[in-house]
Amino acid sequence: MKLFIDSAVPDEVKKMWDAGIIDGVTTNPTLAAKSGIEYKKAVEEILATVDGDISLEVLSTDTEGMVAEGQKLAKLHHNVVVKIPTTPEGLKALKTLNQEGIRVNMTLVFSPNQALLVAKQNAYIVSPFAGRLDDIGHSAMDTISEIRQIYDNYQFETQILFASVRSPLHVKQAALAGTDIATCPFDVLEKLIKHPLTDIGLKKFLDDFKASKQEPLVQS
Ligand code: G3P
Repeated sequence: MKLFIDSAVPDEVKKMWDAGIIDGVTTNPTLAAKSGIEYKKAVEEILATVDGDISLEVLSTDTEGMVAEGQKLAKLHHNVVVKIPTTPEGLKALKTLNQEGIRVNMTLVFSPNQALLVAKQNAYIVSPFAGRLDDIGHSAMDTISEIRQIYDNYQFETQILFASVRSPLHVKQAALAGTDIATCPFDVLEKLIKHPLTDIGLKKFLDDFKASKQEPLVQS
């Protein structure tokens, strides 16, 4: 399973890329607004840092505008994946962009039927928003497992991206449901590697060896 960072903050992206934790990046207009630096500059930095899929979202809501924006975004860099909202207009834009060989991530997906439609149009990625489903008392895990089953039933190649991750538990759920990608905020990625028993265990190993007064095998 690939891990992406859901961020428009270049420093966060660089830290996770240098740590070998992420394979790609997703952004959206909300993250862009919150990024703290000029969005254009932030995206340029992210494109120069990460050699993996980078989803950039269109701001138009009509098909013609989405197609025009998508074509321009795709020209920015070969790693760009154009992110389009899953509306009737978005589905039409997907069809056109797909015919032009532009990779599309269909976003704001909340139901297996939306996921079915975008897979039938060969979307490159589908993004069900798990956290926002859980927020309103739905089971994101059920929705995403159903999408997985539908895609497997018909051998759809669209990659399932578990989006709107809120916690490390969501990442485990994404992996258990067999999603292809999970996109996570910086703080969730940081938490994935940490476990208090690891820190306690390491301290004990080092303290015990020091107390034994033995020579280490090699020097660091
Ligand atoms: O990848 C989509 C994500 O940015 C949405 O997250 O936390 O706004 O539901 P959230």
